[in-house]
Amino acid sequence: MTGFYRDQGQLCVDGVSLTDIASTFGTPCYVYSAAKMAASYQAIAEVFLSPGRRIHYAMKANANLAVLKLFQRLGAHVDLVSIGEYHRALAAGFTPDQMVFSGVGKTGDELREAIIGGIGQINAESAAEVDHIIALAKETGVMPSVALRINPDVAAGGHAKISTGGSDTKFGIPGTEAEAIYRRMTDSQVIRASGLAVHIGSQIMNLNAFATAWQYMRDLADRLRSQGYLVPSLDLGGGIGVDYSDGSTADLAAFADTVETVFGGSDYHLAIEPGRLLVAEAGCLLTRVIYVKDGEDKRFIIVDGAMNDLIRPTLYESFHRIEAVGDHPAHSIPADIVGPVCETGDYLGLGREMPSLKTGDLVAVMSAGAYGAVMRSNYNSRPLASEVMVINGTPHRISKPQQISDLLAADIIPSAIADFPASAPQE
Ligand code: LLP
Repeated sequence: MTGFYRDQGQLCVDGVSLTDIASTFGTPCYVYSAAKMAASYQAIAEVFLSPGRRIHYAMKANANLAVLKLFQRLGAHVDLVSIGEYHRALAAGFTPDQMVFSGVGKTGDELREAIIGGIGQINAESAAEVDHIIALAKETGVMPSVALRINPDVAAGGHAKISTGGSDTKFGIPGTEAEAIYRRMTDSQVIRASGLAVHIGSQIMNLNAFATAWQYMRDLADRLRSQGYLVPSLDLGGGIGVDYSDGSTADLAAFADTVETVFGGSDYHLAIEPGRLLVAEAGCLLTRVIYVKDGEDKRFIIVDGAMNDLIRPTLYESFHRIEAVGDHPAHSIPADIVGPVCETGDYLGLGREMPSLKTGDLVAVMSAGAYGAVMRSNYNSRPLASEVMVINGTPHRISKPQQISDLLAADIIPSAIADFPASAPQE
């Protein structure tokens, strides 16, 4: 079996029991299946890849170096959004020409480093950014490839906070302005206009939204070509959704058919930037029950994982399946699975039917491989949850456990604090 499954009632991953992983590595802990990541990559590669097409893993979904190394070995390219991600991608073995640099607010320092490094493509998102890149190309004497991210005014995505394709969002350039800016790029002669890009949002299950946005981009690209401009490639973005209720994905064959419907018969080079699709189902957040507390009409299962470990439930009201790792008897009262952080919003799941659990039992929050560990924080001075990847049936640590001493060591007490007179402590 690949990924997470039950064996004799016990939740396992790739031949290893989560109970064993918790005993060895502690909790809270992100657990990933390398095999499941590879299978997810192969599934989209099978229906999408052909000569002239590329899959850029959107590394913001999970940027651990081991995860990146895995996708690099599988032949993926990468989509990144900061110079920090650029360095991670380099460290994992991606070459700059395999990278697309997206993002609405790339700084001068970031752009300069990416250009000098020979990054494959910069997706520019405003006229001001294009002008900035033109200036940097002149300054550095290096000719970057630049695509224009257009805003097709198609709102899509699983939550308002992750919908990026509407004209009221900060993303992309309206089609009406794009033609003039594309001309400016080409006429500058210091940057290579490499095409157009679009990304309308994340967690998209409705393929019609893709079709509408892509057709908008294709029409614009065709118009530019008819005016004599070179438009070699189109970046179709990421956003393919995952069904968090059962772990299935959007219909990939239908996704590929949609690509065919819009671009079939054309010679555009095509790229996609999936993130969530490749990693969400391959990870869980493994936590241990600290206390069980019964309220009037509900039960609180207080676990050692919290909103600082996985912020998606409270930030996006997103649903993650929550499963007991062991085989426990049923319990009739619905339960809120909550963490120790001092906020009512600190929950991983609300009103769930959970079995009868007690202190020390293990609970796994499923589909947590994407936008889980990357969005962790040290809120409440909680060390970051550790990460473990199961590779060929063996669990490996893939991030160093953070100690409280690491947190303390990061802060500085300026000696100038001593300028404040010390008063006697309160009684
Ligand atoms: N390309 C661009 C330009 C993006 O901004 C994103 C995601 C992707 C690709 C990958 O999208 P995906 O295939 O993963 O849906 N933290 C949120 C998701 C934010 C997505 C931001 N952009 C969450 O936890 O749901």
